[in-house]
Amino acid sequence: MIPTSDKAVKPPHVSVLYHQIISALRPASPGFYVDATIGAGGHAWGILEKSSPFGQLLGLDSDPQALALAHQRLTLYSHRIHLLHSSYTGLRNALLTLGWDHVDGIVIDLGVSSMQIDSPERGFSFQHDGPLDMRFDPSQPVSAETLVNQSSESELAELIWRYGEDRNSRRIARAIVGNRPFISTLQLANLVKKTSRSRPGDIHPATRTFQALRIAVNHELESLEDFLPQAIDSLSSGGRIAVISFHSLEDRIVKQYFRRESRDCVCPADQPVCTCGHHAAIIEVTRRPITPDENEITSNTRSRSAKLRIAEKK
Ligand SMILES: C[S@@+](CC[C@H](N)C(=O)[O-])C[C@H]1O[C@@H](n2cnc3c(N)ncnc32)[C@H](O)[C@@H]1O
Repeated sequence: MIPTSDKAVKPPHVSVLYHQIISALRPASPGFYVDATIGAGGHAWGILEKSSPFGQLLGLDSDPQALALAHQRLTLYSHRIHLLHSSYTGLRNALLTLGWDHVDGIVIDLGVSSMQIDSPERGFSFQHDGPLDMRFDPSQPVSAETLVNQSSESELAELIWRYGEDRNSRRIARAIVGNRPFISTLQLANLVKKTSRSRPGDIHPATRTFQALRIAVNHELESLEDFLPQAIDSLSSGGRIAVISFHSLEDRIVKQYFRRESRDCVCPADQPVCTCGHHAAIIEVTRRPITPDENEITSNTRSRSAKLRIAEKK
């Protein structure tokens, strides 16, 4: 993993399932690789190290602060890395710009980095007070504040139910609309806490509402659906994609996409003759997702809901 000049300095973000990602992608020189969510550059470091001396890596991130950090931490490999401020939905264009026809491996590690969660001014955390922001890309027009203060009660209820799977969604939406405007994270977290009927042992009552708002603000599920076909198209034969997700809705999208794209026929099961003309593009390397072991969860509790799925291009 990325060495620090001072061993006592904690890395800003601990990469989840690091060794599993490196062994999934099998980086080698002179391969071409993509880290679609480069964050603090942890997985990228491993890919660059293992693909020495000629392997190249394209690193994308929506968050300019993450890119600046990755740039700083990966200086040793600066001659082999291309960093771009872009959503991973821009993968195809980014590869065109570089003139890369195909790549040998792609990793995408969804969700929030520790730097983002731990920076109150980014508005991702309900445990620190800050503006209700939650945008990965601060140049995007819609923040959580806009959604909370301008959506209708039914839109908010739907969003909290769909993306947060919170059984208190209607009650929370009603309380939000009755107490607007909201400008800070703690103001919202306290209202949700007061409104929710939580049981002993439940997670913090604001967890699901904050997750739902973050997913909606950043169009996370739609972006993942847009990205997967681009990623599979971009892989060379034998190239691999590794996806780490932290939410059951994300994992379902990846699982269903991999399953469909690994089949030669996608006609309805009761149809006697195939008419779809579909051909398998990938082989699923993981039928079941890989999850962190107890040691990893103990040393990095943020890894606890991670699921890794891997596929290989035919
Ligand atoms: C969990 S972190 C990645 C950590 C990284 N794998 C590492 O080892 O340091 C997720 C990153 O994805 C970025 N991100 C979220 N949505 C994105 C999108 N649509 N396009 C590109 N990056 C995105 C976030 O800004 C964040 O930096």
